Amino acid sequence: MIKRSLLLPLLLVIGGVQAQDQTSATGNPGAEIVKVDEKAKADEKAKAEADEKERAEAIKEAMNTLTTTCFGCHTGDDKTKVPENPMPQQSPVQSPSLAGQHPEYIYKQLRDFVSKDGQPIARISADMNTWGLTLLQDVALEKDVRMKTVAEFYAKQKPQLAESKNAKGSEAFMLGQKIWRAGLASKGLPACAACHGPAGKGMAAQYPALAGMFPDYTEAQMKAFRDNVRTNDPSKMMRDIAIKMTDPEIKAVADYAAGLR
Ligand code: HEC
Ligand code: HEC
Repeated sequence: MIKRSLLLPLLLVIGGVQAQDQTSATGNPGAEIVKVDEKAKADEKAKAEADEKERAEAIKEAMNTLTTTCFGCHTGDDKTKVPENPMPQQSPVQSPSLAGQHPEYIYKQLRDFVSKDGQPIARISADMNTWGLTLLQDVALEKDVRMKTVAEFYAKQKPQLAESKNAKGSEAFMLGQKIWRAGLASKGLPACAACHGPAGKGMAAQYPALAGMFPDYTEAQMKAFRDNVRTNDPSKMMRDIAIKMTDPEIKAVADYAAGLR
């Protein structure tokens, strides 16, 4: 595909030269040049259309690859293609819901899994290093485009939201709510809402949405930040926070975030 797109402009150039040669043999070069220009423009348009079609095909093909790889662990909302819930995990770690997540965040994670400063970064499991690489196998579509396409695809899906299990008003619920909304001043713990938004929808490109996230996943990630197992947070933002938290605090806030909408 890449070869073809290189070849086409070359053919157009050669064609243009031949057309010019013909015009010099006729009596009215000016009119012929206009014609040649028009033809060149039409050819260019046809080429652009063909390229666009080719690209759409490539993207479609990439999406098909996805249905067989990513959907096993990350559901979208399309029930015809996707199991109701993430598969009983093949992985020791709960896989997150990606549906509705900020595309820039999804893309950033994929990039980190594949290569962060030249090294694939492992988080809790190495699963995503392998799966991230499957995204790059087909070189027909540039790897960056594949990752961005996947990210945008998931970002547009309607998330299947988890629920909070702690009863409203219970001690654990209140603790989670407090940490989310205000943090714990006594130990310098900032409010999660400051970066992840009051309703957990995340902010801008950098701060992921956590509302409705599977609580086991949130809990596992917090512990991974705390234990320096996950190290790809910019400026150690999450590691500096998680290190201040106890297990019950992490559990309480993970459950609270699951119930946010
Ligand atoms: C075998 C299960 C499995 C498959 C298949 C899989 N993933 Fe994952 N994915 C996981 C797990 C588990 C995590 C959490 C990894 C960790 O923190 O160690 C994860 C994390 C992610 C994250 C980070 C999300 C976040 O909120 O930080 C992204 C993005 C992602 N996967 C995208 C994909 C894409 C795209 C595919 C298909 C090419 C895919 N995954 C296939 C299990 C899987
Ligand atoms: C100073 C800003 C900031 C605050 C405050 C903050 N976070 Fe984060 N959080 C981030 C950033 C940035 C990331 C993305 C890390 C990355 O790019 O890998 C993140 C990522 C996460 C993730 C990983 C999400 C995923 O999909 O893998 C979890 C879980 C999380 N934060 C929970 C919390 C909780 C709980 C609190 C409150 C106790 C909190 N955060 C407070 C900035 C913040």
